Amino acid sequence: MVKRITFLFMVQHGLCAGKTGSSETEPISFPASEFWDGNDGPWSSFGMQVGTPTQYLRLLPSNSGNAVWPVLPQGCAVGDPSDCGDLRGTLFQPNSSSTYYNIGLYGLGLTEEVGLGYSGNANFGYDNLTLGWPGDGLPTLSHQVIQGFSTKDFYIGSIGLSPHAINISTLDDPQPSFLGALAQQNETPSTSWAYTAGAYYRQPTAFGSLTLGGYDAARIVQNNITFAFGPDTSRDLLVPVQSITSDAASGPLLSTVIYSYIDSLVPHIWLPLGACQAFEKAFGLTYNETAELYFVNDTLHDKLVAQNPNLTFTLGPASAGGNTIDIVMQYGSFDPMADYPIVNNATRYFPLRQAQNYTQYTLGRAFLQDAYVIADYDRSNFSVSQAVFPNGSNTQQIVAIHRPGDIPPSIHRKTPSTGVIVGIAVAVVVSSFVIIATVVRYRVRKRTREHASRICSVDQGKDKAEPKPGERELENTEKSQYLEMPVTEPKELTADEARRPELPAEPPFPV
Ligand SMILES: *[C@@H]1O[C@H](CO)[C@@H](O)[C@H](O)[C@H]1NC(C)=O
Ligand SMILES: *[C@@H]1O[C@H](CO)[C@@H](O)[C@H](O)[C@H]1NC(C)=O
Ligand SMILES: *[C@@H]1O[C@H](CO)[C@@H](O)[C@H](O)[C@H]1NC(C)=O
Ligand SMILES: *[C@@H]1O[C@H](CO)[C@@H](O)[C@H](O)[C@H]1NC(C)=O
Ligand SMILES: *[C@@H]1O[C@H](CO)[C@@H](O)[C@H](O)[C@H]1NC(C)=O
Ligand SMILES: *[C@@H]1O[C@H](CO)[C@@H](O)[C@H](O)[C@H]1NC(C)=O
Ligand SMILES: *[C@@H]1O[C@H](CO)[C@@H](O)[C@H](O)[C@H]1NC(C)=O
Ligand SMILES: *[C@@H]1O[C@H](CO)[C@@H](O)[C@H](O)[C@H]1NC(C)=O
Ligand SMILES: *[C@@H]1O[C@H](CO)[C@@H](O)[C@H](O)[C@H]1NC(C)=O
Ligand SMILES: *[C@@H]1O[C@H](CO)[C@@H](O)[C@H](O)[C@H]1NC(C)=O
Ligand SMILES: *[C@@H]1O[C@H](CO)[C@@H](O)[C@H](O)[C@H]1NC(C)=O
Repeated sequence: MVKRITFLFMVQHGLCAGKTGSSETEPISFPASEFWDGNDGPWSSFGMQVGTPTQYLRLLPSNSGNAVWPVLPQGCAVGDPSDCGDLRGTLFQPNSSSTYYNIGLYGLGLTEEVGLGYSGNANFGYDNLTLGWPGDGLPTLSHQVIQGFSTKDFYIGSIGLSPHAINISTLDDPQPSFLGALAQQNETPSTSWAYTAGAYYRQPTAFGSLTLGGYDAARIVQNNITFAFGPDTSRDLLVPVQSITSDAASGPLLSTVIYSYIDSLVPHIWLPLGACQAFEKAFGLTYNETAELYFVNDTLHDKLVAQNPNLTFTLGPASAGGNTIDIVMQYGSFDPMADYPIVNNATRYFPLRQAQNYTQYTLGRAFLQDAYVIADYDRSNFSVSQAVFPNGSNTQQIVAIHRPGDIPPSIHRKTPSTGVIVGIAVAVVVSSFVIIATVVRYRVRKRTREHASRICSVDQGKDKAEPKPGERELENTEKSQYLEMPVTEPKELTADEARRPELPAEPPFPV
């Protein structure tokens, strides 16, 4: 029996209909976790609090998935770095959450990514989750689908932003997606999101920006080009790429129009072979057939840094004469690090992949370092803008996207009396203080360590910190049992497996 997860588009068919008062709902500005994560980045992650007691996870936005996908304890095993759990954004321990309800083991629900060579299964369940870190003041959702996985194809877990309902094939009723639930519960003014991945190499470093139900006008160069969703629901953000040029190349790197799927779940940019060969010539890249990657050695890296080439992706309707939009990418966006288990020692690579045919044309997360995407599922359209990097963190200009027909609020919002405000403020300040202190401590520790490992990793290998007790127990008891979950024939958990003793609850933050 082959089980599969299919998707059902419910947003415009009742799930979100009939809402009133949504025009007063503010967009959710989802702050970045302020960590850089991943073994093919670094990428700016976002915090999520899952389960009871709360587990604090760092995840990456995925416009392809539609639920929260955390990494399970099975995602780290013997032979992995001792801080594997932390490297993977913190493992979600379903068995430590009293509000977790297990559904079962199914395919992860990948669609386009299967054609790119990705695969994996997930243990489906429900749990409560709260967006962001404590103190961010973002909504809590009860009983959300959680797709815990272990495959290293995706090293960091993700936050699915697609609003299509989750249809678990053995269950009759489709389950609301993460974004669908937020919209349905009127936590966002519409079923829409806006995202740019951030850019590690910028000075100062620029974290990702994620807005639900609106966008941040301070992060874009405005343009008036809109793309309609592609006809294939699993390839909705399909954008015509007219050309790719670079000041480092005499001719165009891509000169025939291709339709490319914007997919923040995957890191790379997949282009036709001819375009890849033009890149090789322009930048001196050598393709590694084994790894199917373009590794960049120090010599080439120094040369490219000195040259600092720009790449311009021209997007627009295929019809000649239509408006186009240029996304200019800097070399820094093509300068990530591959790390374990892709390679044993951290190695620079150029995030370009050779597509065999049109089904693989993809603009992954690397592209979203310089591009800002706004996707509106109520209107089935999206836009792509040049991302900008304003100085300072208080420069947001959040703009709501309202559902078609909703009248934006022109008037007053209800304001509580001053006494109430003061009371709430005092309570919030006092109760947040301990939490914030913990978070800050964790962040400082993490940043310091990341900084150190970035400098030392190539020469001195990995940080050999002692594994946390929970991880060691998992390593000893799990071994490879769940490491390679079968793709086509996922197996159910046996009763014996379901009786495994409870794991000790991890402290909210590593100490
Ligand atoms: C969702 O699941 C139900 C029940 O298994 C099935 O009848 C239906 O066709 C599925 N929907 C889609 C869009 O696949
Ligand atoms: C968490 O989940 C439980 C059980 O599903 C539910 O009763 C409770 O209200 C939820 N808590 C919050 C804060 O939403
Ligand atoms: C918007 O589109 C019109 C053509 O339809 C063009 O003339 C104008 O410059 C565009 N504005 C911006 C800001 O891109
Ligand atoms: C560095 O990489 C380039 C391109 O892949 C290659 O031509 C060159 O020989 C390499 N240099 C060294 C020192 O390995
Ligand atoms: C290709 O990459 C693999 C690691 O994935 C490495 O072992 C091998 O040496 C590389 N080949 C060349 C020619 O650089
Ligand atoms: C690349 O673009 C940036 C910003 O657009 C510009 O400052 C820089 O001069 C460009 N670099 C090259 C080599 O053209
Ligand atoms: C496209 O290439 C992929 C990878 O080689 C292959 O799996 C797929 O069948 C191809 N699709 C078409 C339509 O040729
Ligand atoms: C979607 O289309 C509407 C007009 O129908 C337009 O106002 C809006 O800007 C478009 N949204 C995006 C994200 O492009
Ligand atoms: C940020 O600050 C630098 C230096 O003060 C300045 O050159 C740059 O233009 C500023 N960027 C923006 C987007 O304001
Ligand atoms: C990887 O790093 C280890 C330890 O730092 C070193 O001994 C080894 O030679 C390195 N391997 C390669 C291929 O550079
Ligand atoms: C929870 O515990 C059971 C039984 O001990 C185990 O089989 C299962 O893998 C655990 N669930 C997850 C998702 O880790």
